[in-house]
Amino acid sequence: MLEAKNLCKFYGSVLAVQNVTFTLEPGQVLGYLGPNGSGKSTTVKIVTGLLEPTHGEVTYKGQNYRKILGYVPEEPNLYPHLTGEEYLDMVGTLRAMPQSRKGTRITSLLQLFSLWPHRHFALGSYSKGMRQKILLIAALMDNPDVLILDEPLSGLDVTSVLIVKSLIQALSAQGKSVFYCSHILEVVEKVCSRLIVLRKGHVLAHGPTAVVREKIGKSSLEDAFLQLVEEIDVTQVVNYIVDVVACS
Ligand SMILES: Nc1ncnc2c1ncn2[C@@H]1O[C@H](COP(=O)(O)OP(=O)(O)OP(=O)(O)O)[C@@H](O)[C@H]1O
Ligand SMILES: [Mg+2]
Repeated sequence: MLEAKNLCKFYGSVLAVQNVTFTLEPGQVLGYLGPNGSGKSTTVKIVTGLLEPTHGEVTYKGQNYRKILGYVPEEPNLYPHLTGEEYLDMVGTLRAMPQSRKGTRITSLLQLFSLWPHRHFALGSYSKGMRQKILLIAALMDNPDVLILDEPLSGLDVTSVLIVKSLIQALSAQGKSVFYCSHILEVVEKVCSRLIVLRKGHVLAHGPTAVVREKIGKSSLEDAFLQLVEEIDVTQVVNYIVDVVACS
């Protein structure tokens, strides 16, 4: 479905991503994990065509990728003067959705994501979680075959998190592919069948979720991640922070 080969990206002299290779098959949920600044969003921007890689290529097996792709970006940069409904209508129009399907999908999804009472309010007045829901609806409304999610749970409440997690599993059972970018290990572990772990732009581990965890010999992915990626003593760092903040 989607193949990324030897992706490399330099911003000037800063290396953001090096030699990232993966395939995303129908029905697969691929987790893309790494600490802040490790190159996750850079990879996502390359995969969605927003950024040219310095080297490497992304191919979508013979298809018009813009039509099959749904993308939830990291930053909810929405037009603040548009209402939620107007924004979704614009997205549907840009995606060339038939008028009636666009209308019914927008109505249903606004209701299901509890945004119906807010549909006529400007996006600038939406809370963070409400903006995130609009991004999710915009990504889902044209029934994409491939979903690219960059921290999709950011700012969502407990119920919405549960809904989105289950939704990802349901969509994958229908044969949709999901590229799930996050540093929230607990979620990734539950919803992803395969994982790529990144550190400073390099792939540290790549394989089925259980294998990645097992390979490092840790019972939880969080332990594995801390050992593999962070290389820090969390307790010590916390103690230092407490000391610094309390220092007169
Ligand atoms: N537009 C840019 N110009 C210059 N450097 C950039 C740019 N975008 C990202 N970088 C650098 O590339 C590296 C990877 O950034 P990226 O945003 O891909 O990380 P990330 O894994 O998504 O982090 P986070 O978890 O914080 O979202 C970082 O060193 C960052 O400073
Ligand atoms: Mg990011």
